[in-house]
Amino acid sequence: MLFSSQVALWLTLVTSSTVAVILPVAKTTPSSVNRRWLLGDDKVRGVNLGSLFIIEEWFAKDEWASMGCKGFYDEWSCVKHLGQEKADAAWDKHWKSWITESDITQIASHVLNTIRIPVGFWIKEDLIHDDEWYPRGGLKYLDRLVGWASDAGLYVIMDLHSAPGSQSPNEEFTGHGTANPGFFTGANYERANKFLEWMTERIHTNNAYHAVGMLEVINEPIKQRVNATDADDMLKNFYPAAWDRIRARESKLSIAKEDMLRKLTSRPTIHPLVY
Ligand SMILES: *[C@@H]1O[C@H](CO)[C@@H](O)[C@H](O)[C@H]1NC(C)=O
Repeated sequence: MLFSSQVALWLTLVTSSTVAVILPVAKTTPSSVNRRWLLGDDKVRGVNLGSLFIIEEWFAKDEWASMGCKGFYDEWSCVKHLGQEKADAAWDKHWKSWITESDITQIASHVLNTIRIPVGFWIKEDLIHDDEWYPRGGLKYLDRLVGWASDAGLYVIMDLHSAPGSQSPNEEFTGHGTANPGFFTGANYERANKFLEWMTERIHTNNAYHAVGMLEVINEPIKQRVNATDADDMLKNFYPAAWDRIRARESKLSIAKEDMLRKLTSRPTIHPLVY
């Protein structure tokens, strides 16, 4: 897992007393929950909750071994090895204990204001194809986690960290390390966009998600120098569609402009962006 410069910024700890306040700002439309933004605060200061919904062995070695996955590179290969039922039980145990409510209150107590939650598209289980190997049953733990974050006053960045078909070669963070990543097709973009629409709706209509203000449409996709065809195809065909689908869903839900997902800013009506 590598961080973009923006993500790296979240790790910057600030010691000044200006850190602190997260103002709950209520703005209700008939179909939406009360949104909470980081208004009044000029920076995200946060942590990424790694290896919860996508485990990367290099920073969860003991956990990975305890799940029966030692020697397997990614979630796909271990789920395949264990079989779906045994894998789901092992992952259930992991999700239950890897991040607890006390971790969340501890994060908040260190004057951090944000968490980022990487998830794989497979948390929306109807998007998984029959011949794909991903753990099932994570969604209720995601619901629980965003609820805790919201109770603790943290701002949440939801991150589609792993895309259908894998968005970069040989990366365990995609959930399926493969030399030939297959995200770059209309069918897989469509699955990702279905995920994004669904998550957008969940954020705006499920109260546990009311502190989620940002939706990262994809983590670390393939680089131009690795495969320019694929990288260009994403620029042309994935990002604009992802933007449109998120905005279309918000429009369908009659979400007020100031409540739409956006890049963090203390002046939310200016430059509303989704990255
Ligand atoms: C780039 O990806 C395409 C498929 O999307 C593939 O046909 C092509 O061989 C790849 N090029 C390289 C240099 O790997």
